[in-house]
Amino acid sequence: MSWMLRLQERLCGLAPWDARCITDEWFRAHFDYAADVVQQWVGGVLDLPTARLLNFGCGDGITDLALMLRHGATAIHGVDIRREYAKLPSIAREQLGMSRIPAGMTFETITPGAPLAGKWPLVDGIMSWSTFEHVQRDQLVPIFSDLHACLRPGGYFFIQIEPLFFSPFGSHLKRYDDVPWHHLLATEAELWSVIQAHQGPIDASETDFGFADFGVDGYKKFVFNEYRALNRLTADELVEITTGVGFHVVRQVRRHVEMEIPAALRGKYPDELLLNNEVFLLLGK
Ligand SMILES: C[S@@+](CC[C@H](N)C(=O)[O-])C[C@H]1O[C@@H](n2cnc3c(N)ncnc32)[C@H](O)[C@@H]1O
Repeated sequence: MSWMLRLQERLCGLAPWDARCITDEWFRAHFDYAADVVQQWVGGVLDLPTARLLNFGCGDGITDLALMLRHGATAIHGVDIRREYAKLPSIAREQLGMSRIPAGMTFETITPGAPLAGKWPLVDGIMSWSTFEHVQRDQLVPIFSDLHACLRPGGYFFIQIEPLFFSPFGSHLKRYDDVPWHHLLATEAELWSVIQAHQGPIDASETDFGFADFGVDGYKKFVFNEYRALNRLTADELVEITTGVGFHVVRQVRRHVEMEIPAALRGKYPDELLLNNEVFLLLGK
């Protein structure tokens, strides 16, 4: 039936939406900021209205929705090992007053590390936002090789990671613990007791739409388990692995924080590693 929806959209346009309905800060951070960054990087090298795009680790799909509504993308396939994207139609209704998400958005739940190449025609562009720090380390090479095989020659792959593990809040626990580099200084048990003791609301821009499913204590456990599963990837390793499977670097930007490194960490890790909190990497095939 998706061809009927596409035809209907071609004739009548997308369902109406209104950004003035937005109340949720997580939604806003993805609908505005993340989508604008992807547009700047990917829209600079590909024509978004005609490109076939793949979003690896699409999460709830809000960024994809914004790329369609605000930046003219027409075909984005999102893949993820979780099914947060199933909430997108109700999120779009609630945050944009939109009755139906665009037919050009498709989603798929995948098994971690399962090959994707050959499942669909080659794509023009791949993007991945805040995902590759969560992929199991031994799956990085096979997944990047597979994504290389999914991309057409001349296509582009944009990767963003923030916060990088060795940066002040690289634990992804800032919503519960605002001590910089605490994860490099404290034991796991100490970190968990900080999280357990946390009371009150957490930063709205860091509260995703999964929070309600978990509840306060369940979300603490979920976020802590996510911390424990981080692969500790560095920007250098990301470049080394992706170029090792055949991509070439088109452009990269590494952002750094200006913070005083604690004495206990100085000399233990390179300053560059401790201060580099974000990487944007545009790869070509
Ligand atoms: C921090 S979330 C980011 C989601 C989304 N990109 C966003 O900006 O909201 C990381 C995502 O990576 C997904 N993920 C982790 N390992 C994965 C894997 N091996 N394959 C695909 N997705 C994966 C998680 O399920 C999660 O949705």
